[in-house]
Amino acid sequence: MIIRTAEAADWPLIYPFFTAIVEAGDTYAFPENLTSEAARPWWMEQAPGRTVVAVDDERILGSAKMGPNRPGRGAHVATASFMVDSAARGRGVGRALGEHVLAWARAEGYHGMQFNAVVETNAPAVHLWQALGFQIIGTVPEAFDHRRDGLVGLHVMYQRFA
Ligand SMILES: CC(C)(COP(=O)(O)OP(=O)(O)OC[C@H]1O[C@@H](n2cnc3c(N)ncnc32)[C@H](O)[C@@H]1OP(=O)(O)O)[C@@H](O)C(=O)NCCC(=O)NCCS
Repeated sequence: MIIRTAEAADWPLIYPFFTAIVEAGDTYAFPENLTSEAARPWWMEQAPGRTVVAVDDERILGSAKMGPNRPGRGAHVATASFMVDSAARGRGVGRALGEHVLAWARAEGYHGMQFNAVVETNAPAVHLWQALGFQIIGTVPEAFDHRRDGLVGLHVMYQRFA
């Protein structure tokens, strides 16, 4: 598996798992029922942000996007988002993307990384981000309308770079 910068030609291969993850309604508060064209700017970042893909034998297993969490005076803190195709989960793709994004943010000189909205019931994600050094700063109660569980909390997770 390699992780490389996403190209325009990758988007049609990302969109199917992007839309499946959003429609599942258990991890992301993105608009639903977006066409490929409408969804593209929600995932394909422009500089200074960046989108990458994890690729194995030409197959896209997952993707991550990263960049400043806030513009202007908040731009020294990074953020990132992750999506792994359900068929490729549990094999370390998410961890590899997380490590890649953290290495990128450190190399770019960010002071830390913040995740703004980690669904508290998303056990694999919460586990993985804690394993990669993130702490739960707090939880906004009932901020996410989970398709199965109803209103659940959103964690703000953060790690400061040494
Ligand atoms: C979260 C996500 C990116 C993880 O990707 P992945 O490729 O399956 O992740 P990995 O295989 O690298 O690691 C998964 C980790 O979660 C753990 N895990 C899996 N199921 C778990 C569960 N129910 N409870 C706790 N931990 C769990 C695994 O043991 C593994 O941890 P380890 O490396 O310490 O053993 C992927 O599930 C995904 O895309 N989900 C949908 C979108 C999403 O939730 N994105 C993140 C939003 S914050």
